[in-house]
Amino acid sequence: MIGEQSNAAISEGCDVVDRTLSARAAIEPLGDAVAAAREVFFLGCGSSYWTGEIGSYLLAAAGVPARAEYASEFRHADPPVDEETLVVALSQSGETTETVAALERAGRRGAETAAITNTAGSTLDERAERTYVTPAGREEAVMATKTVDAAVAALYLLADRFRDGGPDLSAVGERCREALTVDLSGAVSAITATDRLYALGTGPFHGVAGEAATKFAEATRHHATPLSTLEITHGPIANSDGSAVLVFALTGDRAVYRHVLERLTDAGAETVVFRPADESYAATETIAVGRPVETALPALKLVQRLAYEGAVELGRDPDDPPELSKHVEVP
Ligand code: AGP
Repeated sequence: MIGEQSNAAISEGCDVVDRTLSARAAIEPLGDAVAAAREVFFLGCGSSYWTGEIGSYLLAAAGVPARAEYASEFRHADPPVDEETLVVALSQSGETTETVAALERAGRRGAETAAITNTAGSTLDERAERTYVTPAGREEAVMATKTVDAAVAALYLLADRFRDGGPDLSAVGERCREALTVDLSGAVSAITATDRLYALGTGPFHGVAGEAATKFAEATRHHATPLSTLEITHGPIANSDGSAVLVFALTGDRAVYRHVLERLTDAGAETVVFRPADESYAATETIAVGRPVETALPALKLVQRLAYEGAVELGRDPDDPPELSKHVEVP
């Protein structure tokens, strides 16, 4: 069966979420470092970058100044970090060249350094001053799914420490399991009918949109671009005729999503909207996700399934993406 490794990891991700959320003590040393910092930088590549972007919104919403940067940019730029900055490098493999190099650069500039990785004993683990190891277990698939789930769940916990009266996280694993049973056939048809995809999101769902585009390109080999929701109206809408657009209408202003959807429909795009269960939108397909912001994880499960099922529909093996490997090494 094609995509066997990805399919297994996508399913296992819900138990991984439970495992991560029930081991709160493991994230405490990283929480102490966050508490001591003036600002937190998350660094990573690919899915690990988008995970950090989701994390930056979760921390910022909890009152902690935080931002995410591509490790590949940070590595070559003049990053504004000092002794009061905590740099948290994310990498499931712990071996991605740019991420290790970026962490080392931050350390040389005096920043405190930490890693979130699924691989104890990896180069990143060895070079960081402190490491949180995600409890995802070995992930064979090139497509990172359960390792992303674990890292995002850990970031929920991290943010939760700084939030008064935060939401109950105990149901997140169950919401993820529900996401595994949602019928996605209509959405899969809409997004595989074309080879161009945009994914639009705002706040933490900008990171989810980024992950959707990464996963979709990797699994289906289609062109996929993530955008901050309204950015589509500043240029890309001009060539959206015949493209498929995922819209994560899960945070912020409903009027904005309605406006964007009307524009996209007029422009000739197929639209798939991820929406709260109690809201409706005019679109080609809608997928009810639920509330509140912790829907980022169930939404990620839906995204992983869409990429996987889309690839299978197209007869492309999501476990064998061309030009990709489990970790990327560059000079
Ligand atoms: C994810 O599905 C991809 N395989 C890719 O974007 C990956 O996340 C990226 O190469 C970073 O890998 P890392 O987490 O091992 O550093």
